Amino acid sequence: QARRPVGTLDVRAAKGARRIAMLTAYDAPTAALVDGCDIDIILVGDSLGMVMLGRNDTLSVTMDEMVHHCRAVTGSVARALVVADMPFLSYETSPADALRNAGRLFREGGVRAVKLEGAGPYLPQVRALVDAGIPVMGHIGLTPQRVAQLGGFKVQGKTADAARRLLDDALALEQAGCFSIVLECVPSPVAARITTALTIPTIGIGAGPDCDGQVLVLHDMLGLQDRMVPRFVKRYANLAGQVTAAVTAYKQEVESGVFPGPEHGFAMADEELRQLGP
Ligand code: KIV
Ligand code: NA
Repeated sequence: QARRPVGTLDVRAAKGARRIAMLTAYDAPTAALVDGCDIDIILVGDSLGMVMLGRNDTLSVTMDEMVHHCRAVTGSVARALVVADMPFLSYETSPADALRNAGRLFREGGVRAVKLEGAGPYLPQVRALVDAGIPVMGHIGLTPQRVAQLGGFKVQGKTADAARRLLDDALALEQAGCFSIVLECVPSPVAARITTALTIPTIGIGAGPDCDGQVLVLHDMLGLQDRMVPRFVKRYANLAGQVTAAVTAYKQEVESGVFPGPEHGFAMADEELRQLGP
């Protein structure tokens, strides 16, 4: 069982049996490290626009950028199920566009599932992808690609009506064929109710402890950047501090001549050195 690739059926089967751990990764070395820890699902999130490319939101991420990062990740993952985000406007326009673009993430990017944000208007897209054999992960609650309508990065589903709409969306996504659903920034009791109502796993981020799984942005949980991190992030390391200490030590050793030491250089035979002359 150890290194057998995780499939979407394994993810479905985990519901009620064990919790699912999911993390983002956007490049080969971090993906290999995460996969080596037997994380079940690796998400090549469109959060790469902010985390890797230094932008203010995810809206400008292109299909070409997604494919580029997906290839880097899938090339170094042996076990985890790699899921790609469908970027803004790669699926909203029509089921045909969704199919063509998901096909690129599959064939060029090498991923084995896609994730898209929203429910109602995009259910035909979800059905078209699933019918074509492309597994789809849903994503409701705070959907960053709709941040303009949501009026900012805010908790969703705080009123009874809004919570009911979220539950309806989750049920509709399950009915349309999603193999799991991300719940982002919804009150914990709402996430718990949705989790109970569904037969597919919920993966929470800022959605409390009762989801079937959890997801975090790798760079946030590693403390690899100074960017403000939301309340739902737990920092498991302070890599920014370690990087700063290492780079500072390197600079000082270069300037003082401590680095490189003799052990970092290459010798030359005495005879050759004599012939070279002064
Ligand atoms: O892009 C992303 O990283 C995501 C997760 C936070 C769910 O969509
Ligand atoms: Na995303």
